[in-house]
Amino acid sequence: MTKPVVLLAEELSPATIEALGPDFEIRNCNGADRAELLAAIVDVDAIMVRSATQVDAEALAAAKKLKVVARAGVGLDNVDIKASTQAGVMVVNAPTSNIVSAAELAVALMLAAARHISPAHAALRNGEWKRSKYNGIELYEKTVAIVGLGRIGALVAQRLSAFGMKVIAYDPYVQAGRAAQMGVRLVDLDTMFAEADFMSVHLPKTPETVGLIGAEQLKKAKKDLVLVNAARGGIVDEAALYEALKTGEIAAAGLDVYAKEPCTDSPLFELENVVATPHLGASTDEAQEKAGIAVAKSVRLALAGELVPDA
Ligand code: MLT
Repeated sequence: MTKPVVLLAEELSPATIEALGPDFEIRNCNGADRAELLAAIVDVDAIMVRSATQVDAEALAAAKKLKVVARAGVGLDNVDIKASTQAGVMVVNAPTSNIVSAAELAVALMLAAARHISPAHAALRNGEWKRSKYNGIELYEKTVAIVGLGRIGALVAQRLSAFGMKVIAYDPYVQAGRAAQMGVRLVDLDTMFAEADFMSVHLPKTPETVGLIGAEQLKKAKKDLVLVNAARGGIVDEAALYEALKTGEIAAAGLDVYAKEPCTDSPLFELENVVATPHLGASTDEAQEKAGIAVAKSVRLALAGELVPDA
């Protein structure tokens, strides 16, 4: 009997393959290579992706046997949910798998930006010992704004509270009482920009959030604002951010995500007050293991025609 085929379109943890077990034929392809993806997806029963593979209407139309799209992570912005539903293809993800890793990276970027870790490291490797040039600021007793108080935002709020920061948040979908339980004061967008010394973005990418932080908002920010985005590129307008950082409208930024990925030649990378990583929020052993196992289980259930419980 032929086994159902599962296509791994990106590198997933060994635990993923282990959790799938022996009942499937596993194939691999580079999902970021469009032609390769469109050829490979034709006769598979399930596809597993991270964020580099666009499972859009075109890819779904090319797939003749597809039953499941599994996103080994949280964000579903690279999967066309509407087209999947229309094609009768189930979409599963792992919504809690990497939230701790993403929160920890946001805090790391914040600390790195506040203490000039990236340029100081580069200078030292270059034989330069520059202690006064890289004088930084403390997080303690500063106000941090969490933009999006969902699962990851709440973990960042918790961690930064432990640093002695005052935590405010902008999230129109969260009740003030729920925020208060976390020791967080909800504010509107203008108040957030007026009060924040630090800001960390934790929103999904939707038509509503793209460009949410642009030139107009950045002009309202404090000059010493440190802005972190480890959520999705495009929520912070990159051209406006570059201008704000270059002209001293804000102090620094920590970035893990970009409007277009992969991204290797952004003008933002030329600025000393930017610390940047290549979409590493979920890239830890723990997160990859959890994400892989969670979606492998969902794929097994879905292909067996069984109910897939909410993760
Ligand atoms: C996510 O949405 O969970 C992350 O972007 C996952 C990833 O990097 O694969």
